[in-house]
Amino acid sequence: MSPTQVREAVVRAAIEVRQRAYAKYSQFLVGAAILAADGKIYAGCNVENSSYGLTICAERAAIFNAIAAGQRQFLLLAIATAGGGTPCGACRQVLAEFAPTLPILLIDVDQANKATEVNLRDLLPQAFTLNPEP
Ligand code: THU
Repeated sequence: MSPTQVREAVVRAAIEVRQRAYAKYSQFLVGAAILAADGKIYAGCNVENSSYGLTICAERAAIFNAIAAGQRQFLLLAIATAGGGTPCGACRQVLAEFAPTLPILLIDVDQANKATEVNLRDLLPQAFTLNPEP
């Protein structure tokens, strides 16, 4: 697959998984797909709960899915929403743990052919890091 085809596959995966979002309370569906260094794509959607604070965002669901599959290195994230919004602060911090300079494609599902590319480095300058004593 060409680099363009890979990007298209990541965007498609984000749009597709968004359809399975469980957003009963906000009605705001989010899909995310992350490309690992070996070319595999991992998807996640937001899952809400009656106890609102237990909701998980799509971006964290996607990267946790990838981590659980043994991945540690990431090349690209696509996020699909109505409006093409940016990831929340909590998700930025979680993503920065593994990929502080991750390129992110923001997809507005109503104009899916037009992606806006941003970089996590710009979305979360000076991310918190902890270097525990050995
Ligand atoms: N949400 C995400 O999935 N990702 C974000 O980065 C921001 C918010 C979800 C959480 C909740 O289910 C809904 O969008 C509205 O906040």
